[in-house]
Amino acid sequence: MTNRSRIRLFIDQERKWGFPKTFRVGTKIVKSYFFDVPKTIIVEPTSVCNLNCTFCAPSKINLGRKSKFLNYKIFRKMIDDIKKDCWSILFTFCGEPFLNKDIYLMIRYANENGIFTSASSNMTVFKNLKIINNLIDSGLNHLTVSIDGITKKTYELHRVGGNFDLVVGNIRKVVNQKIKKKSITPFLDLQMVVTRQNIDEFAKFSDFAKKVGADGAYLKPLYIDKGMSEDYVKRLEKDLFIERAVTRYLKEGGETKIKKQTPCDFLDKLVISCDGDVFVCCMDYLGKYQFGNIGKENLLDIWRKKKYEKFREEIMKAKKLDICHECVTAISKTLYSK
Ligand SMILES: C[S@@+](CC[C@H](N)C(=O)[O-])C[C@H]1O[C@@H](n2cnc3c(N)ncnc32)[C@H](O)[C@@H]1O
Ligand code: SF4
Ligand code: SF4
Repeated sequence: MTNRSRIRLFIDQERKWGFPKTFRVGTKIVKSYFFDVPKTIIVEPTSVCNLNCTFCAPSKINLGRKSKFLNYKIFRKMIDDIKKDCWSILFTFCGEPFLNKDIYLMIRYANENGIFTSASSNMTVFKNLKIINNLIDSGLNHLTVSIDGITKKTYELHRVGGNFDLVVGNIRKVVNQKIKKKSITPFLDLQMVVTRQNIDEFAKFSDFAKKVGADGAYLKPLYIDKGMSEDYVKRLEKDLFIERAVTRYLKEGGETKIKKQTPCDFLDKLVISCDGDVFVCCMDYLGKYQFGNIGKENLLDIWRKKKYEKFREEIMKAKKLDICHECVTAISKTLYSK
């Protein structure tokens, strides 16, 4: 297997299904080896963002983080705590990860310790070639570019405050610098969240991705956070939601209802906020369910706290938290990948 196919397999595995966590023996659920250590860690380098995307709930509320940027020393200590057990780190959650100037050091340190690194970006903050070279040299394995449209009009309708030409220019620059440096990483995957406004562009999305030199293109289903204001929910249901391509919902009596409940995807994952707090999952922007802080405790000790283990067991049996009702594993659809 080539390096390229190994990386692609890893990305697809994580995106589509996560890793195996639980096994059923008859009616009994048996927890797997992966349950004892967090295999994937989602890190929020910052909660600050320079855009205000139309569907993005965290960008519309006060998240109440005390510190807006994750501290590099604390990140390093966390890596030292888990480097023997953790497989991958995903830099994302609320905010634009690349607004934290230390993210390149964070990626490099995780990589040096044998951890697969991935990030999601709006791609508007890479202002010069030096930063693009930093990105490639950091060793980042995979970058999702959130683009949501292949024309200026559609892109800017979704990515409010963004600049389509700047993003396309940055994608091309990363591709060119990768060629110059003979680097296959970061794998660049372009992503569109499926909406009523961009559905007509899907047929051409793969060609667009190939034309700009990306390694892949995929669709992500829209999520409607029902805990947000009535205006937000109504707007997403009316103007953005469409029951096509990939979707989490069915339309019933004018409202969106979850299509099919799926098991919790966070039994071997956790989220670290830019404050260093450990949140249970990506649905918990406000950190209602927290189990410790990586600045004060060893992450493995936090993961193995009795009350956290009990919590995961309960979630595995029945998704009972207020945030669980609308939660389904977001299966994305790959249109093109190499
Ligand atoms: C919250 S952003 C953070 C990373 C970065 N700022 C970005 O835009 O890629 C992470 C991803 O969530 C997606 N996202 C935001 N709101 C969403 C929603 N309501 N439904 C589905 N995906 C959403 C964004 O498109 C982005 O790909
Ligand atoms: S760029 Fe990312 S974090 Fe910022 S508003 Fe858009 S989706 Fe949200
Ligand atoms: S909302 Fe509930 S079911 Fe969904 S990932 Fe979080 S804990 Fe798991």
